[in-house]
Parts: sequence; structure tokens; C-alpha cells
Amino acid sequence: MLEKEIARRRTFAIISHPDAGKTTLTEKLLLFGGAIHVAGAVKSNKIKKTATSDFMEIERQRGISVATSVMAFEYGGVKINILDTPGHEDFAEDTYRTLTAVDSVIIVIDGAKGVETQTRRLMNVCRMRNTPVMVFVNKLDRPCKDPFDLLDEIEEELKIAVRPLAFPIASGPDFKGVYNIYRENISLFKTIDRQTVAESETLTIDSPELDNYIAPYTNRLKDDLTLVEGVYEPFNKEEYLAGRLAPVFFGSAVNNFGVKDLLDCFIEIAPPPHSSQTETREVVPQEPKMTGFVFKIHANMDPNHRDRIAFLKICSGVFERNVPYLHVRSGKQIKFSAPHAFLAEKQSLVEASYPGDIVGLHDTGNFKIGDTFTSGEKLKFTGIPSFAPELFRYIENADPEKYKQLAKGVDQLMDEGVAQLFTSTLNGRKIIGTVGALQFEVIQYRLEHEYNAKCRWEPVNVHKACWIESDNAAQLADFKKRKYTNMALDKHGRDVFLADTSYALQMAQEKFPDIRFKFTSEF
Ligand code: G4P
Repeated sequence: MLEKEIARRRTFAIISHPDAGKTTLTEKLLLFGGAIHVAGAVKSNKIKKTATSDFMEIERQRGISVATSVMAFEYGGVKINILDTPGHEDFAEDTYRTLTAVDSVIIVIDGAKGVETQTRRLMNVCRMRNTPVMVFVNKLDRPCKDPFDLLDEIEEELKIAVRPLAFPIASGPDFKGVYNIYRENISLFKTIDRQTVAESETLTIDSPELDNYIAPYTNRLKDDLTLVEGVYEPFNKEEYLAGRLAPVFFGSAVNNFGVKDLLDCFIEIAPPPHSSQTETREVVPQEPKMTGFVFKIHANMDPNHRDRIAFLKICSGVFERNVPYLHVRSGKQIKFSAPHAFLAEKQSLVEASYPGDIVGLHDTGNFKIGDTFTSGEKLKFTGIPSFAPELFRYIENADPEKYKQLAKGVDQLMDEGVAQLFTSTLNGRKIIGTVGALQFEVIQYRLEHEYNAKCRWEPVNVHKACWIESDNAAQLADFKKRKYTNMALDKHGRDVFLADTSYALQMAQEKFPDIRFKFTSEF
């Protein structure tokens, strides 16, 4: 039973540069799964560029992102869990952490724009973890770059070998359809009254009537396919599963064209839940005892109900309602009477969840990102990264009577992974570090509205924070003494070097060769 449930699960994320079509593709996938029935049901999870200081927009976004954090549906006997990632680059850290909870990724690329910055960055994270990726080149109904150029660009920019499993027949106003290399048939692109009709599963490259449909591109397609077979090795699933080879599909998400080809191939080749590393041993999904970790915490938007939802990724065994589990960090046994599964558009009570599934747990402020739950074993999952922030400000209390509220608010927001807190060794002042500028506004707003506390930001000259470690205790002590004014502690009491310029960081690295300067740490 457990084995069977594991084998039929696919947990993944869709990543893209904003506007490439992630929301649209997600929605089409949900329509296939019958999880939603009308287009437009999935709200775009992005903050419009003009809305940087529009807090209602941020709040609205948080509302949406609870609802769309995890979208589960069944398709072709497979249980699919899509984990949503925020589109705005200031929330990239959230995305990085979500990527620790998936078994594979689909990357959406705008066929006219090619590979964009955000995609490149997110791919770096996938590469670090050898996550298998599939690529969907979107918007073929618009004039796009040459498909071979796009494939080269993906290979170069994303540093991964590619293998087209579909190939487009022209693009823009001339777009005729897509040849499915995997299934060896053609889907024709037609829009009638703005409705797309994908046609003809029976049409193959040798069909005599092909010309009637795709002229004047018939010979071009034949040449292109010959070239594809000449240039690319046959598709190798092992290479894909090892994160070294990306199968590529082409289509138009908004027209629901090419999406089914992608989905059908995805459920066939994408990996089921894999094993997870802990500090002491590897955990295999098939182990009967439950283990899981929290990769995301979401605060309730209603200030009168300050409870939060912790997102638990099940790594092994079966998670059951009303069964006590060990919260490893506190040593307490906790049982959950109302764990939630996430089905698109609604949350529902869940009796049993399997590896690969995400369960929503109610939290009154006791859980942190990275927390492990088990059936009793003291384990700690590793590899949930916290990235070196790049923007820094001193946080000051702007209302002396609300000191406690401020401390609590800051503490809880840090547990949610909104930003990172450092305490200067020099003067004990608190420094908040973030990956995006928007976070400072979000923190200030949320402190005021959720915790009734006021804060003020003051500039601090920090270029980069990095965690330092060394086996050479004398050198480490010497470094800390010399760099006394630039040292701080993170929330776990670990040493952090706050370099004020990139030059200072470079000099420090050269002068203290036994010290490891780390740009990511673990929760
Ligand atoms: P994102 O989540 O990656 O940010 O992108 P999203 O799906 O919101 O899509 C961004 C825009 O691109 C949307 O238009 C969407 O309709 C459009 N789009 C998505 N897929 C295709 C496609 O295959 N072809 C074409 N031509 N456009 C596509 P918008 O004007 O920003 O929003 P809307 O008013 O259409 O919803």
C-alpha cells in the first residue's frame, strides 16, 4: 500500500521569470486534473511592478499564496502535487526553500524572450540539488526565436544538456502546431473563435495529407526533425533523472496547446519521491515510520487569529490525523486534529498523507522552518538553505512601550523566513538582512498590523553577510578579534562576518585561508 502510494506521487514546482506563463500553465494543468473547472480560477501570484508600496496588494497576494501554495490533483492515476513559488524576485528565498521540497521542476520559458535572469538563478538552485527539470517553451502563438537557437540558449544559459521531445512548426501568425517526437504524431494549432483546437493524433510525419495542413512548412519540418535526430542523442531517462538532461516541449499555455503532451510525458518520466538526507542517516520514503520537515510557514492574515500554517513535507511513512508525532526540536509529542491537504481552491481535512504530500499544520507560533516531525526518532533533515542576504538595515523600536510586541513580531517573522536577524557584536544592535527591498516594507507593515509594534529603519553599511567556520581555532579567534567591528551572531548564535565591501570580503578570504566563508547556511 505505502509502496504503491509513493510510486504514484509526483511533487514538483513550476518556475519561470515573471510573465513567462507560469500561472497560465498551472491553471491548464489543474483543468486537466479536474481540480478546477473554469479558466481564471488561479489568481496570478505576482506583485505588479507598480505595487511595490501598495500594502493592500501585498496582503492580497498573501491571501492568494495561502490558497495556491500547494495544488494537488489526480491525473491518469497519478497524484500530482504542484508547489507554488512566488513570482516576485524579492521573494526568491521562499522559492529556493520550496525547491527543497520538490522531486522535480518544470521551467517555463517565453519563446520570444528566451532565458531570462530569474530562470537562470532558479536553475542554479536546481543544479545544486541535481533536481530533474523539464522545459516548456511557451507563447509559440507569438513570433518566437528560432527553435534551434532557443535550444542552444537553454543549454548554454541554464548549463544543462537538452533533448527536444516536441518540435514546433513555425511560430506567431504562421504557427501550425507541434510535432510530438516522443509519441511521433502531430498536433495542429487552429484557433476558431479564439478557441484552440488541437487536432489529429493520427497525423504522422509520413501522412500523405500532411501538406494540406502545414504547407509551406512540410519540408522544413522534415529537415528540422532530421537535424534534431542528428544533433541530439536519443532521450535518456537516466540522464534526466540525474538532473543532467532537460527534455524540452513547445506550446502555448494560454491556448492550452502542447500542455497535454507535456503533462502526459511528465507523469510517465518524472520521479516519485526520493530519499532525503538527515544529519545522521538517509531516510527512504518506503520506511514505515513517519518523518517530515517544515519548509514553509504562513501567517494568518487576520490579526485576531494569529495562528499560522506550517507546511510539512512528508518524507517517509504515513502521516495520520490524531496520531502523536515527535517535534524533534522541542522534544514534545504533538498530535494534530485538523491537518489539511491542499486541493486547488479549497483545503480539506486529511486522514492520511504519504511521502511527497504536503500537509498543512496549525501552529500557534511554536514551529520554525526546518523543524522535523517523526514517529519518535530524533532526526534533523539537512539541506534547507538560508541564503546570505544582500540588503541590510538596523531595526529600531519606534514605540518604547511596545518593546515586547516588537521582539515577538521580529522573532516570529524570522521563523517564517521573511528575513534574517543578526546581532552586532560591537554594539548589540539588531540588523535585519533580506534578499529584496520589498521585505523591509513588508516587515514594517506586518509588525504594525499583526503585532501592534512600530519599527524604524536606519542605514548600516554592510555589503554581504557570510557565515564563518574553521578547523583552525587560533585563526578563527584571531579573525574575530581583528574584525570585531564587523562581527555579528545570527539567530542560532552562529558567527557571521558582515563585510562592508566586496573588497574587504576578498581581502579577508585571502588573509585567512583556513576560514570557510559560507554564503548559505542551514535552518
Ligand atoms: P507568470 O505567472 O509566469 O508571471 O505569467 P502568467 O501566466 O501570468 O502570464 C503572463 C502573461 O502572458 C499573461 O498575459 C498571459 O495571458 C500571457 N500568456 C500566457 N501564456 C501565453 C501564450 O501561450 N501565448 C500568449 N500570447 N500569451 C500568453 P497578461 O496580459 O499579463 O494577463 P491576462 O490579462 O492575459 O491574464
